[in-house]
Amino acid sequence: MRVVTPTFRHGARMLLTLTASMIVLLLQLHGQSAGVHPEAIRYDEAARIFRIDAADVSYVIGINQNQQLQTLYWGKRLRPGDTLSPAHADGGSSGFDLSVSATPQEFTGWGGGLVVVPNLKITFPDGNRDLVLHYLSHTIRNNTLTISLKDIGRDVVVDLLYQVDEATGVLARSARVENRTQQPFTIEQVLAATWNLDASRDYQLRYLTGRWAGEWNLQQTQLRPGKIVLESRRGSTGVEVNPWFAIERSKQADQDVGDVWFGALGWSGSWQMNLETDWQNRVRITGGYSPFDFAYILSPGKSLETPKFYGGYTNQGIGGASRLLHRFELDSIVPQAPHRRLRPVLYNSWEATGFDVNEAGQEALAEKAASIGVERFVMDDGWFGERKDDHAGLGDWYINPQKFPHGLRPMIDKVHALGMDFGLWVEPEMVNPNSDLYRKHPEWVLNFTGRPRTEGRNQLVLNLAREDVRAYVYGFLDKLLSENDIAFLKWDYNRNWSEPGWPDAPLQEQKEVYVKYVQNLYSILIELRKKHPNVEIESCSGGGARVDLGIMHLTDEIWPSDNTDPFDRLSIQNGFSYAYAPGVMMAWVTDSPNWMNNRSTSLEYRFLSSMQGSLGIGANLNKWTQEDFATAKRLVAEYKDARATIQDGSLYRLISPDGDSAASVTEFVARDGHEAVVFAFLHSSQKGQPYPRLYLHGLQPDAVYTIHAREGKLEDDTVQRASGDYWMHHGVSISLRGDFQAAFLTLERDSSQ
Ligand code: DGJ
Repeated sequence: MRVVTPTFRHGARMLLTLTASMIVLLLQLHGQSAGVHPEAIRYDEAARIFRIDAADVSYVIGINQNQQLQTLYWGKRLRPGDTLSPAHADGGSSGFDLSVSATPQEFTGWGGGLVVVPNLKITFPDGNRDLVLHYLSHTIRNNTLTISLKDIGRDVVVDLLYQVDEATGVLARSARVENRTQQPFTIEQVLAATWNLDASRDYQLRYLTGRWAGEWNLQQTQLRPGKIVLESRRGSTGVEVNPWFAIERSKQADQDVGDVWFGALGWSGSWQMNLETDWQNRVRITGGYSPFDFAYILSPGKSLETPKFYGGYTNQGIGGASRLLHRFELDSIVPQAPHRRLRPVLYNSWEATGFDVNEAGQEALAEKAASIGVERFVMDDGWFGERKDDHAGLGDWYINPQKFPHGLRPMIDKVHALGMDFGLWVEPEMVNPNSDLYRKHPEWVLNFTGRPRTEGRNQLVLNLAREDVRAYVYGFLDKLLSENDIAFLKWDYNRNWSEPGWPDAPLQEQKEVYVKYVQNLYSILIELRKKHPNVEIESCSGGGARVDLGIMHLTDEIWPSDNTDPFDRLSIQNGFSYAYAPGVMMAWVTDSPNWMNNRSTSLEYRFLSSMQGSLGIGANLNKWTQEDFATAKRLVAEYKDARATIQDGSLYRLISPDGDSAASVTEFVARDGHEAVVFAFLHSSQKGQPYPRLYLHGLQPDAVYTIHAREGKLEDDTVQRASGDYWMHHGVSISLRGDFQAAFLTLERDSSQ
């Protein structure tokens, strides 16, 4: 990457001989103020350079002498007068290192000697597999730049889309491959974009790994020449690795300082990201559909669009990267964005009753939940078909007549009378072999003819790519929502794919299941939301096994993990927050000792752990004492007071629970700076060490804030009112001692400020 600093010298010389209208034009080109609002996307015809400027980010692309599209710069926003040298392909360094791979291209076809991961690999019907993409044309409309590339010989056109979010500088990139030839061809691999980073030996990669009930572990590794592949071959997003990465350029990692580039995929099927570091320590990141077992036949006149690969940059460290992503998700991705509703406090029956749900039992729980201020009552698994445990019933979406002899109506009416709305659990994409649906339609599941059908949690995956299955799933959900006053669906998905066959489809189209399944899932969600606009949906996959920006675009909240141990949750929620907004993260207060680790904790500790996201209660309220109810009522009310700041504000990790830290502290600052909310946790005191002093972040330096300890105690000598600077630089000491202790503070800005 070559960044050349101001060549405005040329401009100054030229100005002397320019007419007034030409001056205006020049000012526009250079984005000078003088009342001229610079466009986010501009094209410099002479230099053949596209420049995208948004928020604090500049992204610059050039067309080089070989007609390739080349990354010139991605990073901190450049000055309007800064110009960059035109693109020049890298010459390569030897016969083993050709220019085509050495040049940081924006999107590559596999051909012309390319040895790095290609974005697009095609086999043509005559056996030709060579694809060389050159610049064809472009358009700039509003916030979208579309650059078309075309193969040097065949009528294969690829439109590269760059959508800019002006508030955060996050770019959404995708590619649309179009077959303008006369014959079908097979796409064997198509990755949405290539993100190129300039050479550095200091790149640290972060990514998130997990397993059931142990999701969201933050991994960190130094990038060195070679390739790192992050992927899911599971048919869905998966729990093993999440489709998010962040790369820091720093030797000394600091939460809130330093250059960070980050990216996330909007796709809920099998996916892949490749991080290739070359011998010069330059990095290329490609991502999109997993190429594993992939084949998509593109007929003449048809096109295939990739998922979106979002990318962003900040110089405010990994903490700043999370804040930008959170803001982007809340304001641009979630369905109601930018006017999303704050998440209500909900109750969920799962840990209290398991599959053993019935009208009287649920109503009794609903009464108790309402008494502490719960706003939404959700009945989980067990209400339908012959569902007594996880061996039967999935697929038979009728209300179980023994458990609910009068249907759901009386219970829903009761929930409404108690002042709450009603939510219901569903797992629409699955079927138990022990179900009427499977007995009637055994061909509806993913399978290979004559081969065993591997069960996971005693269930099989319905092949949603089939139009009859899609119609069935949409039909029962629409009926359920039309016949019952349901405000919320918890949409679960409890296994990976196995035997991903689609025997009834034409042979050459069978592998399209990877794309069409997810497209149909999305289309069902879109259609349901359109017909039932007030219904909200939670994405759950046995916990956090389907969390990505694709599903987030169609669902209102996320269940990050089945692990509800409040101490484990500190690191689970912390990991989640690197990529996803706490405002959409559901967190339940459950029983103690918790089933996961048999750990006992106070109700206050459990509440404070869960209050760092979207608060829910999942405990068996039938076992609670009067004192528990009083504590819960107080904490639910406190949560509601602080909820807007927690769910919508900026998150600062004052002390991260990574690396077995005994302390962990989060701070949420309201967008307008009027309030900060702090949650502090202590695992165990050791050797009389005091709790670390907290230095707040993100306050207005000269505004005055009053501190309140809502739960827990401040050290005796703490002042009550002081400036933002004081709280950020002098800090505050809280008195936390013992095991599994927690505190909850708020800082209110003086109303005059
Ligand atoms: C897995 C979910 O993550 C749980 O919360 C619960 O809904 C069960 N499924 C129900 O089967």
